[in-house]
Amino acid sequence: MDKLRVGVCLCGSFCTFSSVLPQIEKMCSRFDITPIMSATAFQTDSRFGKAEDFIKQIEDMCGKKVWHTIAEVEPIGPKKLLDVLAVVPATGNTLAKLACGIADGAVTLAVKAHLRNERPVVLAVSTNDALSVAAKNIGTLLNAKHMYFVPFKQDDPLHKPRSAVADMTKLEETIDLAAKGQQIQPILL
Ligand SMILES: Cc1cc2nc3c(=O)[nH]c(=O)nc-3n(C[C@H](O)[C@H](O)[C@H](O)COP(=O)(O)O)c2cc1C
Repeated sequence: MDKLRVGVCLCGSFCTFSSVLPQIEKMCSRFDITPIMSATAFQTDSRFGKAEDFIKQIEDMCGKKVWHTIAEVEPIGPKKLLDVLAVVPATGNTLAKLACGIADGAVTLAVKAHLRNERPVVLAVSTNDALSVAAKNIGTLLNAKHMYFVPFKQDDPLHKPRSAVADMTKLEETIDLAAKGQQIQPILL
């Protein structure tokens, strides 16, 4: 049987890259993974690491170049290139754009192009404003067709009382179920 074709979009939540990359590596044996990065993720060096090092690691794992331009991702729609598209991690910024239908970068256009084919999108929230300004966007997306969430929780209620992050170890199972049109439960951990 052909491998499930999964797009994995990384946005600029750099602190979660260390938990996302091992999941990508693990999934490579089962899925045909196409890596995609937002402009921020593709370009930014931070205290969590250098962009070029992350890009190299991801490209080595997937055996493919990272797509990071709107021209590279646009064919996802007309050519039906993917079965599932995961946004891992999904920043507050990208969640806001998706909730409003904005498609001004590689990740947001990848989602729009993929949704054109009525296919599942998986979102792994990672943002400090999940329980404040981003809550309405998460709510909008929870209620949207074809959107599936990696289970998430408050990561540090004492010091970051509005923050939430997805449990990346549940990514593969979330994708497996989303491919069948099912939301993994529980959504809230
Ligand atoms: C070191 C660092 C860590 C960041 N972590 C997060 C994060 O965990 N969640 C988040 O929503 N934004 C985070 N940001 C801010 C985003 O990178 C910023 O909002 C950016 O515009 C997101 O763009 P994107 O959604 O297109 O990737 C972080 C920025 C930096 C420099």
